[in-house]
Amino acid sequence: MKSVTCTAPVNIAVIKYWGKRDEKLILPVNSSLSVTLGQDELRAKTTVATSKEFTKDRIWLNGKEETVATERLQNIFREIKRRARRRKADSKAEDAVVSWKVHICSENNFPTAAGLASSAAGYACLVYSLAKLFGVEGEISDIARQGSGSACRSVYGGFVEWEKGVKEDGTDSLAKQVAPETHWPEMKVLILVVSDHKKHTSSTAGMQTTVKTSQLLQYRAEHIVPQRSQEITQAILDKNFPKFAEITMKDSNQFHAVCLDTYPPISYMRDVSQQIVRLVHAYNKLCGQARVCYTFDAGPNACLFLLEEDVPRVVSLVSHFFPPAVGDESNFVRGIPLIPDTPSQVDVEGIPLEPQPGAIKYVIHTKVGGSPQALTNPKESLLGEDGLPLHIVKS
Ligand code: DP6
Repeated sequence: MKSVTCTAPVNIAVIKYWGKRDEKLILPVNSSLSVTLGQDELRAKTTVATSKEFTKDRIWLNGKEETVATERLQNIFREIKRRARRRKADSKAEDAVVSWKVHICSENNFPTAAGLASSAAGYACLVYSLAKLFGVEGEISDIARQGSGSACRSVYGGFVEWEKGVKEDGTDSLAKQVAPETHWPEMKVLILVVSDHKKHTSSTAGMQTTVKTSQLLQYRAEHIVPQRSQEITQAILDKNFPKFAEITMKDSNQFHAVCLDTYPPISYMRDVSQQIVRLVHAYNKLCGQARVCYTFDAGPNACLFLLEEDVPRVVSLVSHFFPPAVGDESNFVRGIPLIPDTPSQVDVEGIPLEPQPGAIKYVIHTKVGGSPQALTNPKESLLGEDGLPLHIVKS
């Protein structure tokens, strides 16, 4: 048995991908740009193994066996094996291993219930691990893209652009790094996980309806995103936080406006999400410039970007206005350790909100992070020597 274990990061888009021009190849209607997050706090971990003895391909996600018979998984397997065979043919090596079946076991280090986009990290990790297992080198973001569009951006660390490309076969629809994770070390991230049990429309289904019904989406793709992508790239390169923050918030707002322009409309933000928006704008007003910004994906959780110097003050205000419910006080702020300030009278009075106990479940403090990693310690493997998962969750 041959096996490889790797980890891959979550990414959060600041210029949102929403809408496909090709459903099969997963080609987007506009380019998007994201920030890769730190893997200590948020990551997928995947072990892939192959053996002559395996009788079929199998996959376990967070301890539960799932079907491999999905179009997206099959496309990934086919493409990895095609490239592996091409490489083997070039080097005239025997290609028996390429025809063996695979076992895949993947888990996240954050609760799925947190409602954070886990498919990007998961598919990026799968593709990265399979590429290592079968000796596929070179660009793999186009393969990750065929698992989930946003996954192509998790193949790189730092600040990453997914260029939509123009070719029909999708070969130019790739992710590329705009700046590495070391470029802007002062940049930090707070994820506010809100209490919410409602099932949301999946991104895949939601964007399908948007493409069919929203004229605003077409306008956005043609007239807004190209310029915004250029401007935010420049703001990142110049480390111009107020500009970065303004574009990030405007693009999140426009993405949610496009969701409302969908017919029937889709709304991902909740009351608590709107209150977070108000908190951020009130804070920036108190500061006289944008010092923190929000972005929301296809769910009500907020992702805040801010510079290190503002973290204690912002966390103190989040804890003041959204204190944990009674009994949930411990571990309210997770991730990179910090000592929050006590909120100042001036700040509290300058923010027009009433405290909402229990509206936020917890906060994850993280930073800009690096690319997927292969783990060399065999103890990290999620599969035992028999090729079966070490931890199974009984359903
Ligand atoms: C709102 O990548 O999950 O997070 O390509 O259908 O798998 P599929 O969709 P997915 O959509 C992500 C949408 C988003 C914005 C973004 O990450 O750019």
